[in-house]
This record gives sequence, structure tokens and C-alpha cells, in this order.
Amino acid sequence: MTELISIEDCRQHVDQEVRMHVWLTDKRSSGKIVFLQLRDGTAFFQGVVRKNAVSDEVFEIAKSLHQEASFYIKGTVHQDERSHFGYEIQISDLKLITNNEGYPIGNKEHGIEFLLDHRHLWLRSKRPFAIMRIRNTIFKATVDFFENEGFVKFDAPIFMHSAPEGTTELFHTEYFGGDAYLSQSGQLYGEVGAEAFGKIFTFGPTFRAEESKTRRHLTEFWMMEPEMAWMHQDESLDLQERFLSYVTGQVLKHCQYELEILGRDPKKLEPAAQGNYTRLSYDDAVKILQDDGRDFKWGDDFGAPDEAFISEKFDRPFFIVNYPTTIKPFYMKKNPDNPKEYLCADVLAPEGYGEIMGGSERESDYETLLKQIHEAGLNENDYSWYLDLRRYGSVPHSGFGMGFERVIAWICKLDHVREAIPFPRMINRLEP
Ligand code: 4AD
Ligand code: MG
Repeated sequence: MTELISIEDCRQHVDQEVRMHVWLTDKRSSGKIVFLQLRDGTAFFQGVVRKNAVSDEVFEIAKSLHQEASFYIKGTVHQDERSHFGYEIQISDLKLITNNEGYPIGNKEHGIEFLLDHRHLWLRSKRPFAIMRIRNTIFKATVDFFENEGFVKFDAPIFMHSAPEGTTELFHTEYFGGDAYLSQSGQLYGEVGAEAFGKIFTFGPTFRAEESKTRRHLTEFWMMEPEMAWMHQDESLDLQERFLSYVTGQVLKHCQYELEILGRDPKKLEPAAQGNYTRLSYDDAVKILQDDGRDFKWGDDFGAPDEAFISEKFDRPFFIVNYPTTIKPFYMKKNPDNPKEYLCADVLAPEGYGEIMGGSERESDYETLLKQIHEAGLNENDYSWYLDLRRYGSVPHSGFGMGFERVIAWICKLDHVREAIPFPRMINRLEP
């Protein structure tokens, strides 16, 4: 029987007869020929139906197809230099499955709210297709990278009994007559994993009840959080640089087609794949802002416009290291050379994207950590198990968190992170 292939596989089947499962994205006909724009989830390409090459019945079906009709085709693959994809199929037979009129997303411009309301269908279009395939490549590259570095995948829970980093950004839910919160980070559990398995990474959904309506905030996003026992902050920065270079390199290697669909110039990503990321101190970042005449004082946290301004100056991701302790969470380790700052770093993406990752060395001394919990106004009883990690076998350790959608938004050059996740959750959006 004729081989069943995907559109993506065409390259290996030039001039061969094949079968495919496809959907119609667009159609154009002129007398004796019908051009079908087809998709199958792996790529988009053109099918050509010539009246003299098929039965009358098949030709009539081809002419009657509506957008998103689903059907089987048989035909011969040809190279097609004029098309973006590079191949097309001359169809010899077609068997219809469904063919309904009225698909709401046409090939004209639609407003973003309309598209988001129809996200369940919009995901079939070219642009979301390209973004989700890049998301998938980043996911695979992440797992491969950490496996190669000897990490264990370690899952953190989503329901939390207490609020590890304060309650202001937490979603609350009732839990059998008591209270629970949705996780805003798996980190503290990741630290448990590091002391049990050495090097771990978590990957899962994360929830933030932030009232931020910015282009980089979701209320539900995915975070990957590695945690490394016996590792100091400088080695963690090396690891973060290797990680991001690898991920960008894999996208450049495997996603040329997707980047082209998005109109994303791969040259802009090449420096990121080369490594050599600048380590800018918080103090120097402040100077950059002040030299520009901005009203920014030492000790302030960077807002999105500040980060955008600094990040325009770089052609690849870079670190801002050692923030003042007043603007970072309690679990970080103070810099022994300057107790006003933590041994921490954020990674900012270039082209104005700002923060995509953040991490630190963790305080590993029991008494110091307890003091920092008190200073942060937190209840030590909520941290008794976390403090146990410092009571028994405590070692220097470091970790970081990568905001998956933030990285995708930068790599794909999106205007907003909402396009980086299949079903975005924002203050004003819970559907579909
Ligand atoms: O900087 P954050 O809050 O750091 C943590 O949660 C640490 N516990 C990470 C760690 O050290 N293990 O969040 C980490 C990353 C940010 O750098 C950002 O990329 C992303 O998560 N992020 C968001 N992404 C989308 N929407 C939001 N509302 C986000 N908040 C943070
Ligand atoms: Mg952060």
C-alpha cells in the first residue's frame, strides 16, 4: 500500500506517490485546476488538483471544499522552488471526512481579542503553529540539556499549605474545609530534591495573582527550576549561560521553517547561541539608568521600562548580578563581601525583553536563614521542613527559575507572552 507520510516528511519522498491526512487552510481554483493550501500539524504546503488527473467526482469535491475540511489525499510529491515550504503534491485521489461551512477565522486580519476568544481554533493557524513548535523544541532542548548535565527531573507540588514567599501574589482555594494556595514556585521543594539527588530540575505550571496587565505577565505560566547541591553562584551562572546558549542553538538548528513563518531573523539569535554573556552588577545597571537621566535610586527594583532600556544595549542575554537584599526574597545568601546585597542574578533577554530567568545561591546556614525569615516578617512554623534542610546535611547550593513563556516570547519576538502558551490565563481571561 502507498506509504502514509506527514507534510514534513515530503523532502524524503520527492517524485514518489504517497498518502496524507490533511486539513484545508485556503483554496483557489481556476477552471481546470484547484490549488489547495493544506496543513497537517507538521507543516503547511500546497496540493494541486488537475481536472484531467482525477475523476470527475474528486474534482467536484476539490472545488467544493471549505476552510478546515478534513480529508485523505493520495498523490505525487514534487519540488516547488516558488513556495516557502519548497514542495507540493499533485493530487490523484481525495477522500473527504468532514466539510462544513462557516469556519470563523478567515485569511483576513482579525483583532487580538477575537483571536484569543477563538484560541481553540486559532492554534491551527500558521503563526501559533510556529510558536508552539518552537515551544516544543525549547522544552525538548531543556530536558536534553539537563539530562546531559546529570540532573534528575523532580516534581514539586501545586497545592501549598502555606505561602513561602508571602501571600500577596497567591491564589487561594478552599481545601476540605481548610485553606490551600496554588504554587508560585517549586523552588523550596527543588531544594529538598537537590539534597536528595544532587542536581534536579522541576518543570510545571506556576500561579501568580499579580494584578499586572503587562505584556510579560500571565497568571498561570510554566517555570523550569534547576537546583544544584554543592554549587556556588558563579558556577550556577556558567550553567545558566550554557543552558540558554544550548536552547537557542537548538531552536536555530531545528526551527528554521518556524522562524521564517514568524519573520524572525535568525541572525538576531546567533549571539545568544554563542554564549559569552555579560555579568553586569546591579550598581552598574543603576548607573546606566542614571546616566540616561532617569529618576532611579540605588535600592529601587527595575521596572519593565528600566529593564527594556538596559536590555536594548545588548545583542544577547546578560546577567544583572547582586541586587540589594531589600528587593529580593529571604532565602538568598548574602554576599560575604557586601551584606547589603545577595549573591543573586537575573538574566535579561536583549531587544527590550527584560527578565527571563532569576536565581541565587541559597542561604545554607540554619541561624542565618532563620534570622532572614524573621526579618522578612514570615512565620518560622511555615518553614519547619525547609529549615530541616539546614539542620541536616546542609551544603552550599544554588538554583534558578526560567520563565518558559518569557523565553519563548523573546526567541519568537512576540509582542506579548499570551501568544507563547496554548491557553493564556490573564486577569481578564479564563477562556477558552
Ligand atoms: O523571578 P521569579 O519570581 O523567581 C522565582 O520564582 C524563583 N523561585 C526562581 C528560582 O530561583 N528557582 O520567577 C522566575 C521567572 C522570572 O524570571 C520570569 O521569567 C518568570 O519566572 N515569571 C513570569 N512569567 C510569566 N508571567 C509572570 N507573571 C511571571 N512571573 C515570573
Ligand atoms: Mg525575578
